[in-house]
Amino acid sequence: MIIAIDGEASTGKSTQAKKIAKELNFNYRDSGAYYRALTLYLIQNNINSKEEIPQTILDKILIEQVYKDNNLIISLNNEDVSKKIRGYRVSIKVSSYAKKSEIRNFVYKQLRNSAKSNSLVIDGRDIGTVVFPDADFKFFLFADSKVRAERRLKQINDKSVKLESIEKEIKNRDNTDSTRKIAPLKKADDAYEIDVTSLNINQVFNKILQKINSR
Ligand code: DC
Repeated sequence: MIIAIDGEASTGKSTQAKKIAKELNFNYRDSGAYYRALTLYLIQNNINSKEEIPQTILDKILIEQVYKDNNLIISLNNEDVSKKIRGYRVSIKVSSYAKKSEIRNFVYKQLRNSAKSNSLVIDGRDIGTVVFPDADFKFFLFADSKVRAERRLKQINDKSVKLESIEKEIKNRDNTDSTRKIAPLKKADDAYEIDVTSLNINQVFNKILQKINSR
């Protein structure tokens, strides 16, 4: 069984996906974390997003996700990069790498392989539209960008970071993600959409769970 939770940046998709996975005893995959880990590797190795990434380079990249006790660990070539991939440096670059077909195919392969042996909850941008168009349940989360930036700021808990710069980064990323040619960020026709602007974590969780249990 596949549950797809797609949506805009910073709408709490991964929080919800983890909660649903825990509730249903499913495995969890964070598709954005694959794009982030790939981006980290490519910037560390000075590989520009404007160039085509050769298969010989991609063959050197091993990304693993282990979900245990409501916690997701992401490793890149056996190094735990769970924290590093959330940093500003990766956040501002990830969308320009995620546009590329060779990068997307790398991630699709990983996700589809994981689904062979697991029931999965997966969060992302194109899970319900492209990666698993036949997913059993599809959700699409969206919210006002200011509210998303405020929530992200609270999470970062760093007084040197400005609300305006977070909002700008979020909006830029959504813009690049939704206007790209391949697998843009958009709601699947058959996805259940939730405006999370004025809902808290538990309210969103209950809506998702209700929808799943109503079938
Ligand atoms: O979910 P996230 O914010 O960590 O994702 C980071 C970036 O990865 C996002 O801005 C675009 C890309 N991404 C994507 O293109 N497709 C997905 N299914 C998930 C993420």
